[in-house]
Parts: sequence; structure tokens; C-alpha cells
Amino acid sequence: MDFKEIKELDAKNHMNMFNRLNVCFERGEKNKLYDTSGKEYTDFMGGIAVNCLGYNHPKLVAAISEQASRLMHISNIFYNVPQVKLCEKLLDGTIFTKMMLCNSGAEANEAAIKLARKYFYAKGENRPKIITANNSFHGRTLATVTATGQEKYSKPFAPLPDGFIHVPYNDFEALKDAVTDDVGAVMLECIQGESGVCPATYDYLVNAYALCKSKGILFIIDEVQTGMGRTGKLFCFEHYGIQPDIVTLAKGLGGGFPIGACLARGEVAEAFRPGDHGTTFGGNPLACAAALVVVEELKNTDMLGRVEFMGNYLNAKLSKLKKHNFVKDLRGKGLLQAVVLSEKLKAAEVVGKMLSRGFVLNAAGNNSLRFAPPYTITEEEVNAMAAALGELFANTNI
Ligand SMILES: Cc1ncc(COP(=O)(O)O)c(C=O)c1O
Repeated sequence: MDFKEIKELDAKNHMNMFNRLNVCFERGEKNKLYDTSGKEYTDFMGGIAVNCLGYNHPKLVAAISEQASRLMHISNIFYNVPQVKLCEKLLDGTIFTKMMLCNSGAEANEAAIKLARKYFYAKGENRPKIITANNSFHGRTLATVTATGQEKYSKPFAPLPDGFIHVPYNDFEALKDAVTDDVGAVMLECIQGESGVCPATYDYLVNAYALCKSKGILFIIDEVQTGMGRTGKLFCFEHYGIQPDIVTLAKGLGGGFPIGACLARGEVAEAFRPGDHGTTFGGNPLACAAALVVVEELKNTDMLGRVEFMGNYLNAKLSKLKKHNFVKDLRGKGLLQAVVLSEKLKAAEVVGKMLSRGFVLNAAGNNSLRFAPPYTITEEEVNAMAAALGELFANTNI
């Protein structure tokens, strides 16, 4: 099928939901992608922070192939070995005591919201309200678009579920002022990825956590984008020395295979009873076999050290771009970083130009160029990308 035909069929049959870039990838190998004409690209987007082990990773492919031939799906009415192994391995050495599995980040956050509400309901306390931050992103289901502090994602879909309060991010006083007796949880991202890789300041997150602890409010961290080693630690919240009650994961967890998770600790982790929550596909053997490889790579090798090293390396290269007057800021941690551009130069335009030069980048909110490459990205690949971007910027006269 040629590219023209692919585009025509897509336009004819798929709902018009995506501003697609002008390329169709059909194969990946390590940190490279290949389009339908055979052209090679180096991937600095990682399927938006998903393909953490790169493409065609031998262990991941072997585990999926082996499990596919053995058993792909079995109802959660039965036990399944990959699920049992994944939960044991993922929870081991963390502060969390129990978890549940699902298929996406939005589902993981739905579970977190339900878990927090069920926890207080079971205690007979009326604390259904959840505080989230402006410019956050928590998913596309009705509850998670409502939790998301960006009206553009929720307004057309009203009526929306009740009980969400939005406050400015990185503004502790605003958070404190929003707390009332019926607030049961605060849900935050350590780094707001979709809105342009905006990190929480250390003081903000630590103070927000302390406030929640002092008032018996559950602290939920959405690590869908920042989790699974993306920032150089298994969970980004570890950089802040805090201990959330609930954390949500997806994206990198399956290394490209769809899977999400909601982890909790102590009494909160015991709040669900049979019938409260469920899923047909969540935690299926195939997804769990894939995620087990990712968790093993992160926990049994020096992958986290590599993310930290390559994150610093990428940051050092990107820092050189600060000399351009249209580069406003450089943000992020580990292998989740952004170059923030002034309005004069559109991030989407840069993404298009870099794509034609063989580099896959991504435009995130706030006119930012987002970098979320596989953890296997090499120094040579970073050098080549930084040189191409440097040249592009040097020839941009604005
Ligand atoms: C922080 C965060 N939470 C939730 C989601 C939603 O995840 P999914 O698209 O897998 O539902 C995303 C997706 O970008 C995200 O970045």
C-alpha cells in the first residue's frame, strides 16, 4: 500500500481525531523507526514516553511471543501466573502494598479516583472531592477529562461528573485555600508532561504532601508519563522524598504493549472489595508478560542509571540551544525534557522540519518541543539530533 493510499483510507474510515504527522511507520529497531518508503528516523518521542526499551527489544519480543502461543487472555475470574509475577516484582522494594491492573493511563486514574472515594465511603466519611491542578492531564474518560485542569478537553462533553476542584499548579497557598472538610484526595503530576514538561517545584510538592498528611487527605501522584524510570528513578515522586498513598502508571509500563496500573499502600490499598471495580482485559497474561520484562530491566540492570546519565547528556546538548532568542526555557528531568519556544517559532513547525531530517520529536503544550526517547538512546544519536536541531535553529531568522 503506498502512502497516498494509506492517507486516503485513514481519512475515509477513521474518525477525525488526530492531527497526524505526514508519515506512516511500519517497523522499528532499537531507537530507529522506518517508514513505508524505508526511510530511517531516530526516535526522540518513544510513542510519547511509551517505548522505553526501544523497538524490537529481544527480551520483550520473546516474552510476548512465548506468552501469545501459551495464553493471551483469561478472565480475571481465574488466577494467572504472569499477573501474579508482575505484581510481586513491581511492588517489591516500593512503598506500595497492593495494586490493580488495567489497560491505559486514563483507566489507572479512574481506578485511583474510585479507590480514594471508596476508601472514605467505607469509613462513613463524606469526602468525595478531589483537588487537581490547572494544566494537568489525567486522561480522556469523562472522570479523567474532568480531573484534567484544561477546559478544552472537557467542555464539549458536559455534563461532567461532580466533585473536582482545580487549583493553580505550583501555588501552595491556592491549594491550601481550596481544602475543605469534604476533600478526600489531591491528585498531581510531579511533571506536567502534556502541558509542556512543567515540573512541580520541590517546595510545592513537599508542602502539598505535608498538608495532605496533616488533614488525612489522600495524596495521589499520576505517574503515567513520569513513571517506570522515565526521570531516572522508578517513580518521579522519589526525587521529592514523599510517600503518596496512590500512584498510577501506564505508558512505559508495557514497553509498547498497552497496560496500566494503580498502586496503593496500607489501608487505602484494601478499600476495594469484589464487585467495586473490575476489568475484562486489565492484567491479561500477554500484557503482564510484556510489563514483567520492563520491570525486570528496570530493577535488575542499571537502566535507571543509564536514564540519569543520558538525561544529563541530552540536557547538556539542549542547553547549547539557549543562545537563540526564541528558546525561552529548558525543562524536565531524565529522559523527559522540553525546549520551550517563544511564540515566534511554532513547535509543530520545528517537529515537521526535524521529521524531514530523520528525527522524531513531539510538540507538547505551551509551544514546547518534547523529548521522551527510549532509555536505550545513545550519545551518538543525541549528538546527531542536537546537531540537526542546532543547524535548523541557526538557519531560523526571526
Ligand atoms: C500524566 C498522564 N496521565 C494520564 C494520561 C492518559 O493516559 P492514556 O492515554 O493511556 O489513557 C496521560 C497521557 O498522556 C498522561 O500523560
